[in-house]
Amino acid sequence: MTARKRILTGIRPTGPLHLGHYAGALETWVRLQHDYECYFLIADYQVSDYADDIPRVREAVWEVALDWLAVGLDPENSAFVIESLVPEHAELTTLLGWFLPVSMLERNPTLKSEMAAMENPEDGSTERKSVPVAFYTYPVMQVANILMPRAHLVPVGEDQLPHIELTRETARRFNRRFKEVFPEPEALVGRVPRLVGLDGNAKMSKSRGNTIDLKDDAETVARKIRSMYGGPPRGANEPGRCDENPIFLYLRAFDPDTEGLRQLEHDYETRGVPNQVLKDRLTRALNDLLDPFRERRAYYQARMRLVRDALASGSERMRRIARETMDMVHDALDLNYLEKY
Ligand code: TRP
Repeated sequence: MTARKRILTGIRPTGPLHLGHYAGALETWVRLQHDYECYFLIADYQVSDYADDIPRVREAVWEVALDWLAVGLDPENSAFVIESLVPEHAELTTLLGWFLPVSMLERNPTLKSEMAAMENPEDGSTERKSVPVAFYTYPVMQVANILMPRAHLVPVGEDQLPHIELTRETARRFNRRFKEVFPEPEALVGRVPRLVGLDGNAKMSKSRGNTIDLKDDAETVARKIRSMYGGPPRGANEPGRCDENPIFLYLRAFDPDTEGLRQLEHDYETRGVPNQVLKDRLTRALNDLLDPFRERRAYYQARMRLVRDALASGSERMRRIARETMDMVHDALDLNYLEKY
């Protein structure tokens, strides 16, 4: 049997996961989990922007693990890894930092906009923060995460693409200069690269409070959809444009009845359909999607010891491969000082 190629991907433990995470990434992870050897990382070293709220991080580690189990990731097959239980990540970050010019971070568009948002929050809901050193260098740690298991594929949301590009560049530099250690990993963006928020904002995000969370119950989903933004004001039976109404973006993403949806879009643009009809349909589609997740979540929530064991054994699996990689790196960089005498 030839060895399966490897996936590494991850999420920061800052809160429960939402539909944007699902359609942009998790769904792909579930689909690929049996074709690849998978490492799913809870990136708790990379929460410097939440360093004053560790209780939230501790809570979110379990939330994320439960969300993963809920959507159907199988910890028997894939490793669920807590980053800080594999401190080799910190070591590799330090060593890779030798070879990455600061200018590459300065140019990174995702990092740039995240830092700008911290220093200058636009909505006033979050306070202005200075950027911690560890935040500035988190893309380097993300590179170390991906290179650690010598991954081939990184399924992520669209905003992560600059970090994957940085990883490829780092792998190329390292391999060229020292020894062929790292595959050049490919990025894979999910079916819905960016899901709009319930308020019509370009992005569903926790900090904006415009999410539907994977753990929301049916009533919560119904309530959130009832009050979601439904495009520019319009009389109940006045035709509108589907592309201006985020309800359609959601239906396209989550309603499996594409035939029926096409008819509805036609009706909407020609004779008008009240938003209420669209919203009822969306609520049904979402609850159909989320029901099996809720069931699995409840199962594990009643058996948290299983969740704990998944995290413990997955982290141990990552540790083994991390030691292997660090040996290769020490060897390539000729850092085995004590072997001289
Ligand atoms: N930075 C990613 C995010 O904010 C999380 C992450 C950390 C990650 N390490 C990773 C994603 C490695 C992919 C690969 O969502």
